[in-house]
Amino acid sequence: MNEGETRLMSDESELQARLDAVYMAKSNEDLATAYDAWAANYDQDLVQKLHWNAPERTAACLAKYAPVTASVLDAGCGTGLVGEALAALGFRSLEALDLSAQMLATARGKGVYGAFHQVALGPAMELPDDHFDAVIAVGVFTEGHAKPDCLAELVRATRSGGFIAFSLRPDVWADLGFRDAQDALVAAGKWVLVEETDFQEGFSAVQTRPYKIWVYRVV
Ligand SMILES: C[S@@+](CC[C@H](N)C(=O)[O-])C[C@H]1O[C@@H](n2cnc3c(N)ncnc32)[C@H](O)[C@@H]1O
Repeated sequence: MNEGETRLMSDESELQARLDAVYMAKSNEDLATAYDAWAANYDQDLVQKLHWNAPERTAACLAKYAPVTASVLDAGCGTGLVGEALAALGFRSLEALDLSAQMLATARGKGVYGAFHQVALGPAMELPDDHFDAVIAVGVFTEGHAKPDCLAELVRATRSGGFIAFSLRPDVWADLGFRDAQDALVAAGKWVLVEETDFQEGFSAVQTRPYKIWVYRVV
C-alpha cells in the first residue's frame, strides 16, 4: 500500500469513527460531546467527503412554500450549512438551535443567523408559542439524535399557516416512531402534509443512506 492509499484509509476510518460516535450516542450529553469534537472538521467531512446535499435540497423544498421574508428556526443547525443554503435563496431572518456549543459557535461564524439557542430538542422546550413562520431540521431526526417527541413542540412554536420541513431516512421514519408521531399530529389537526419527496440519494463515499424530505403546514 502506498502513502496516499494509507492516508485515505486512515481518513475513512476517522470519518467512520465520527459517524459511529454520533449515531451511537446514548444521551444528549454524549451527543453534544461527539459533535463538539467534530465541529472543526464537520463541513469538510460532510460536504467534501460525504457529498451531503440535504441542506440545499431541504432549503429549496421549504422555499417552495415559505416566502424569503419568513422567520425560520434552523433546529439542529450544526455548523450552519442549512442557514447558508437558506441565505443563498434570500432568507434573512434565521435563528439557530443546537445542543452542541461548538457546532453553534461554528454556525455563528457563518454570519447568516441573527439568534442562537443552545437547547436540546425534546418534549418540553423553552420556545415561544406561535412564533416562527417556518422551522427546518436537516439530519437531526435520526438514530441517537432528536426523537419524535419534539415534533409537537416544533408545531407549537410555529405560527398557524407556517411550514415545517425536515429530512428523514425512511427506515428511521418507520422504525423509530416518526411515522406514528407525524400521523398523530395530522389526526389531531395540528398540521397537514404538503409534500413528501421521492428518495434523495444520501451520503456517498463511506455509505449510502437515502432520505426523503417532508414538508407540513401548521394548522
Ligand atoms: C447531522 S448534524 C446536521 C447539522 C445540519 N442541520 C446539517 O444538515 O449539516 C445533526 C445536528 O443536530 C444536533 N442535534 C441532534 N440531536 C439534537 C437534539 N436533541 N437537540 C438539539 N440539537 C440536536 C447535533 O448537535 C448536530 O449539530
